[in-house]
Amino acid sequence: MAQEDHFKNLIAHCKEYGFVFQSSEIYDGLSAVYDYGQYGVELKNNIKKYWWDSMVLLHDNIVGLDSAIFMHPTTWKASGHVDAFNDPLIDNRDSKKRYRADILIEDHIAKIEAKIDKEVEKAAKRFNDFDEKLFRETNPRVGDYQRKIEEITAGFASAMNNSDLAAIREIIINNEIVCPVSGTRNWTEVRQFNLMFATEIGSTADGAMKIYLRPETAQGIFVNFLNVQKSGRMKLPFGIAQIGKAFRNEIVARQFIFRMREFEQMELQFFVKPGNEMEWFSHWKEARMKWHKSFGFNDDDYRFHDHVKLAHYANAATDIEYRFPFGFKEVEGIHSRTDFDLKQHQEYSGKKLQIFDPVSGESYVPFVVETSIGVDRMFLQIISAAYCEEEMTKEDGSTDSRVVFRLPPALAPVKLAVLPLVRKDGLPEISRKIVNELRFDFNCQYDEKDSIGKRYRRQDAIGTPFCITIDHQTAEDNTVTIRYRDTMLQERVEIDKLRDIIDEKVNIRTLLRKL
Ligand code: GAP
Repeated sequence: MAQEDHFKNLIAHCKEYGFVFQSSEIYDGLSAVYDYGQYGVELKNNIKKYWWDSMVLLHDNIVGLDSAIFMHPTTWKASGHVDAFNDPLIDNRDSKKRYRADILIEDHIAKIEAKIDKEVEKAAKRFNDFDEKLFRETNPRVGDYQRKIEEITAGFASAMNNSDLAAIREIIINNEIVCPVSGTRNWTEVRQFNLMFATEIGSTADGAMKIYLRPETAQGIFVNFLNVQKSGRMKLPFGIAQIGKAFRNEIVARQFIFRMREFEQMELQFFVKPGNEMEWFSHWKEARMKWHKSFGFNDDDYRFHDHVKLAHYANAATDIEYRFPFGFKEVEGIHSRTDFDLKQHQEYSGKKLQIFDPVSGESYVPFVVETSIGVDRMFLQIISAAYCEEEMTKEDGSTDSRVVFRLPPALAPVKLAVLPLVRKDGLPEISRKIVNELRFDFNCQYDEKDSIGKRYRRQDAIGTPFCITIDHQTAEDNTVTIRYRDTMLQERVEIDKLRDIIDEKVNIRTLLRKL
């Protein structure tokens, strides 16, 4: 199936099974804003718990924080967001559609990359002992494409770094990039657009103060840096972790929950002694990749994308990218932010944000290594990897199909479903008793409606790792069948063993131990 269809089916599945809904759908929705349904919220909470525990529970020197969304407006002046948190926009005069100029260029580069992949694919089919590396290095057509990519990338980086809007437009014109809707090159000038949402605090128009909905959670950590350090008597290196909502007035809202206007971030700011930041940058780069790979999906679908051109406040930066159905895209950013943020807040607030080092006897502003991941983007990564449409051949030779969410059991919204084979002979009562026992440990579901096959399919579709079937033998010997979602194999086990069997697979501990 084409990746595009696969992705469309995934989005439809999320709605049909209560994972993700368009916000305010009855009013025709609000673009790039989504609500999480009954199963979506459970999956999202499990992702957050795994991240939180991997940071706060497993590290003596990392503590949590929950700072407010509203912050003093000077925060955003100091951080640079008021002046520089902009996207370059361009309009197509024929379709009247508005685009992010940088994304038009990135998509154009992705198209050239896809052409290279096609060449490689074709050649791999032609030659038996195909050496991909050599082919990429020596094939003239691939070389031409590669040089084109390098030329565009260099010009693009320089234009972005210098905020040279005319140069960005020139790249679009020179590369004959067309509007995906009208197909024309009738472009306007490029303009800057600030992404922050503004509102007012205070009751009267005179006394009201303009404030912003935070565009990242990080600044709430920076302004609380000394509060946490002093009240927790923290010594360098130490980290502050936070999960919370962030808001950006994204112009190009595409790809479902990939780019939203209201979203959640999980951020760690790790404070280190100046000079040690590169060591910690490497540490967090590896640690975060390990976290991503701990889910057990295909390792080849993750990669680092090191930034060549760095933001003015960073001295190293990389993204962890995942191969989404629409290509490799950023899920998480890891940045060595130097002492930029704390120094800015120190200057704007007039308050010292320094640490006293008893060994050297000096006071200094620490450096910061940040890991920043979007909860919603992580959610999309997990469901993209887990969504499977399977064709199966049954024992009698006939075929069947199922949609199964192969979610890591520790993240699955429902851990087990208890299903009486029939709705009589005391089987519902035994089933209810099992649910009432196990609900203290796991999210359980009881289902007695429809054939057992249909009930299995419903659980597969929401990713439930275990189905427990209660039949007449259960009444005689206290055993049940347990059916495993991924293999569909079944085995008979004693009711008393259920808790241990399930716990071993679904406890977040199973993921944490891999780190
Ligand atoms: N404090 C650093 C920071 O905010 P960022 O690269 O702008 O860095 C970090 O964002 C992460 O937040 C991204 O890697 C992505 O996962 C998520 N994110 C950013 N903008 C988003 C959006 N509009 N919708 C969903 N997730 C977003």
